[in-house]
Amino acid sequence: MDSMSRTTIFVTIALSLFFHVPTPANSTRMPLNSTPYKLVNEFCNQAKNKTFCVETFKLDPRSALAPDQVTLVKVAIDLGINDISKLKSHVSLVLPKHGTNPTAKLALQSCVSSFDVASEFLRGALKFVSGPYDEDSYETASENILNAGYSVESCQRGLDSKGVHDPSISRAVTSTSRVIGFAFRITNNVPTPTS
Ligand SMILES: *[C@@H]1O[C@H](CO)[C@@H](O)[C@H](O)[C@H]1NC(C)=O
Repeated sequence: MDSMSRTTIFVTIALSLFFHVPTPANSTRMPLNSTPYKLVNEFCNQAKNKTFCVETFKLDPRSALAPDQVTLVKVAIDLGINDISKLKSHVSLVLPKHGTNPTAKLALQSCVSSFDVASEFLRGALKFVSGPYDEDSYETASENILNAGYSVESCQRGLDSKGVHDPSISRAVTSTSRVIGFAFRITNNVPTPTS
């Protein structure tokens, strides 16, 4: 699969989590003393499952008074990295159960490698959004996040293609992929500084 079509797949998945494409209107910066979770609520209002979105961001204390969308991007990326690390441990625990099935074992091992790749992409993205705003850096971050999403989902595709059914992994892959989708959407929404 070439990079264009895998990008398209992930964009489609990321967009399908939303009712509508948000307008880039949130360009005003919130004062530090604004209502808790104001930016989170604004963003999550566009999510298909607002509860999941808000609960996800509430896992990180920075979300409550996030002064800008860049903070939310960093939160979403860190949550994604954390999810991937949990997924990896989970798959490693499940692996011995499939020890007698070499095909399943290979598919699961390949999941672990995909998760490592996904983590690296997210770490790269974090670096690109951590400096001062720069259009190219944000584009690169956005591409890295797409690739991270693709890598996580490639685990599920690998399992499907080998006929390996593991609902606990599938649920975790879906939820991680949604968190990465949040990072992707916010990254593409970060307003260009006006000054
Ligand atoms: C929305 O997310 C919440 C929290 O993760 C979950 O309990 C609920 O089942 C989800 N609703 C739908 C319609 O998927």
